[in-house]
Amino acid sequence: MIIRKSPAELEKMRKAGILVYEILQHLTRMVEVGVSTHDLEVAAEKMMKDAGAKSAFKGYYVPAAGGKYPFVLCTSVNEEVVHGMPSVRRVLSSGDVVSIDTGVSLEGYFGDSAVTIPVGEVSDEVKRLLKVTSESLELAIDQMRAGNRLFDVCGSVERHVTANGFSIVREYVGHGIGTSLHEEPQVPNYVDRRNENPRLREGMVLAIEPMVNAGRPETKVLSDRWTAVTKDGSYAAHFEHTVAVTANGPWVLTRP
Ligand code: MF3
Ligand code: CO
Repeated sequence: MIIRKSPAELEKMRKAGILVYEILQHLTRMVEVGVSTHDLEVAAEKMMKDAGAKSAFKGYYVPAAGGKYPFVLCTSVNEEVVHGMPSVRRVLSSGDVVSIDTGVSLEGYFGDSAVTIPVGEVSDEVKRLLKVTSESLELAIDQMRAGNRLFDVCGSVERHVTANGFSIVREYVGHGIGTSLHEEPQVPNYVDRRNENPRLREGMVLAIEPMVNAGRPETKVLSDRWTAVTKDGSYAAHFEHTVAVTANGPWVLTRP
């Protein structure tokens, strides 16, 4: 069942969304050669505490990993696709890309967003990977209109990514979001005909999160049981927004 949110609930999700946006803005400005992913974690945790918000990730139980996620951020560098863990040993260097994914709850309502940031000088191909992935998210956002269907959202990501020669990760998907981080429906970045294709209606809120590999689509999980990497070692990109369907069209809750 897809839970639709009232206008008052959307306003609460908006507050969580804007906090997530402010955190990601701050972290984006921090990213440079020599900064560790642990530095980013410390800054994000302080901003959540100061705002009276709870981390959506820290303590979140993931059965496949066999435990609770220990950090407020996922920081996935280069061939890491998602769920990379902040570490003092992971110091960013020129040519890296770092995906920063974070979520909070405020007054019981969640926001979730991610961005992939280049560090120093990255190659033209990596620049294109980031551009195509963020464009695919924008195309999906534009489909978040009452009367459209879920596959319009999923298919717009898939079309743009594959037309540009990159690969869609299939093992991880976006999701409904509201009073939990993960609600129905699943939001794959490709049309999965095994799933239902519900019509989008006012008040539905989805976290849309294209995960795109420069090379082959396959991923594997490292022995830490969390970090997902590309099997072929190619770079990956990840962008995410929390988006509501409203009478006035798509409302991106995680940006101004
Ligand atoms: N944005 C991701 C998701 O929505 C990150 C959550 S991983 C967690 O699934 F384990 F930290 F929660
Ligand atoms: Co998410």
